[in-house]
Amino acid sequence: MIKIKLINKIVNLNDWVKWLNDKEVTKYSEQRLKRHTHASQKKFLNNKIKAKDSKIFQIFFNSNFVGIVELGNIDKFHNTCEVMYFIGNKKYWGKGVAASAINLALKYAFKKLKVYKVFAGTYKKNVASQRVLTKNKFKLVGKMKNHLRVLKSSKKIRDDKLIYEKLK
Ligand SMILES: CC(C)(COP(=O)(O)OP(=O)(O)OC[C@H]1O[C@@H](n2cnc3c(N)ncnc32)[C@H](O)[C@@H]1OP(=O)(O)O)[C@@H](O)C(=O)NCCC(=O)NCCS
Repeated sequence: MIKIKLINKIVNLNDWVKWLNDKEVTKYSEQRLKRHTHASQKKFLNNKIKAKDSKIFQIFFNSNFVGIVELGNIDKFHNTCEVMYFIGNKKYWGKGVAASAINLALKYAFKKLKVYKVFAGTYKKNVASQRVLTKNKFKLVGKMKNHLRVLKSSKKIRDDKLIYEKLK
């Protein structure tokens, strides 16, 4: 059973910090560029809780906290927002958790925030991320060629950024 819970006060950050420092989890995220601590994460989360342009949710699988989904860059004028997500507990990868969590976040976006469109961006190399979007009927609408830097072994290589969107 997958649930998402809106975060409106500081939650236990131990797992979250561990996930953010896991290079496999953050391989396709700019979070990999920072070292995360309890203090940095508390500051980040307090800012998110106060922010008018973000709703951030814990993802639970059978009551276990396994990841995060965020509706960010909420734009009240254009009536759009971006969905971002990760399953930090790798034991739960490949079980449909992210696809279901995104589905629940989309319901919140379209019903509560009443946005016109939700968009997402992924590294082209992040096939699993693209799959969770297409499973949620997102459409690929754009490709920013060589937009992103990827570190592979010691060589610096680049990747395309893919843009997906879903209308209500
Ligand atoms: C990407 C991520 C969110 C997917 O979460 P998940 O809960 O494992 O996703 P799901 O189980 O819902 O779906 C994954 C799908 O991708 C597929 N998949 C996984 N790895 C794949 C690969 N290397 N090639 C092709 N398909 C792949 C799975 O088979 C599954 O598809 P299916 O249901 O049709 O079989 C998770 O791996 C993660 O958090 N990764 C690190 C952070 C991240 O990349 N976040 C997204 C940033 S844009």
